Amino acid sequence: MKNVLVVNYSQTGQLSEITAQVIAPLRAAGHHVHLETLVPEKPFPWPWPIVDFVDAFPECVQLDAPPLKPLTIAAETPFDLVILTYQVWYLAPALPMTAFLKSPAGRQLIKDKPVVTLVACRNMWLSAQDTMKHLIAEAGGKLRDHIVFTDQGHALATFITTPRWVLTGRRDRFLGLPPAGVAPGEIRAASRFGHALNDALDTDAERNPAPMLSGLRAAVVNPRLAISERTAQRAFRIWSKLIRLFGQRGQWRRRPILLVFALYLITMVLTVVPLSLLVQWLFSPLLKPHLERLRAELELPSGSQGFNLQKYEQ
Ligand SMILES: Cc1cc2nc3c(=O)[nH]c(=O)nc-3n(C[C@H](O)[C@H](O)[C@H](O)COP(=O)(O)O)c2cc1C
Repeated sequence: MKNVLVVNYSQTGQLSEITAQVIAPLRAAGHHVHLETLVPEKPFPWPWPIVDFVDAFPECVQLDAPPLKPLTIAAETPFDLVILTYQVWYLAPALPMTAFLKSPAGRQLIKDKPVVTLVACRNMWLSAQDTMKHLIAEAGGKLRDHIVFTDQGHALATFITTPRWVLTGRRDRFLGLPPAGVAPGEIRAASRFGHALNDALDTDAERNPAPMLSGLRAAVVNPRLAISERTAQRAFRIWSKLIRLFGQRGQWRRRPILLVFALYLITMVLTVVPLSLLVQWLFSPLLKPHLERLRAELELPSGSQGFNLQKYEQ
């Protein structure tokens, strides 16, 4: 039987529900799973008051996370596998996960360990996962698989439904758009990853470099969104540095520049994002080979193929 560490943090419980689906088969098979829920010293609000929401932006992008309460396990506890579950906040890992990966205890726990990452977010996770890769490598962990869950509905619809959920707490159907968050069927189907991990752990496959979760449609990339995301991330880096020149998180003196940033963000979402999607759609025959290459590269290591779905979907 193997020892598995699962690191988790969730404001609405959505990510915890997905995590529970993955863990259940592991526990049923007799593996010892330690679920470590991250607790920030000062809790983040839910729903988010608009000022707090915008004010969190620069620190998310600059990976400057406020401290967590001490973990419930010793940093030297040995694990065979680590599963890191996280949300995306402003194209970066959510601050509690950043805090974990930058803390001495977090780094020690994943050093030399095979790591699986699992993200649940609106749909822009590529930059955040890139950051996760760097932080995991810096800590000496070995990223083996990546699992993605995104909010239901068209990318443009989630630009309305997800912020509404985050800012008001309401996730029901709105203006004919689907409810916010990951579809319940997708959450239930997350157990396939637990079943596949059981097979991997039984054969010590976690010790090999090959991914353990191929063929399970673990990560599906829309390469058109990748292009918008890269552009946005470049802008976010500049804005976050600029805002931090005006003061720290919570200080009044950075509020005027935060207002300018908020207006910029809304304008971008309403104009540049749909325009960039339209241009890419118009030029799609020309862009297709490039986008296909990009998709294959970004879906690594676990990929979007489904050849193992029948075996593990129960
Ligand atoms: C401050 C903040 C910023 C967010 N930024 C993004 C983002 O850049 N991309 C994205 O896909 N989702 C983003 N989201 C949505 C979250 O990733 C996540 O789906 C939502 O907060 C629910 O997670 P939870 O209930 O498990 O904590 C953001 C949420 C918050 C609170």
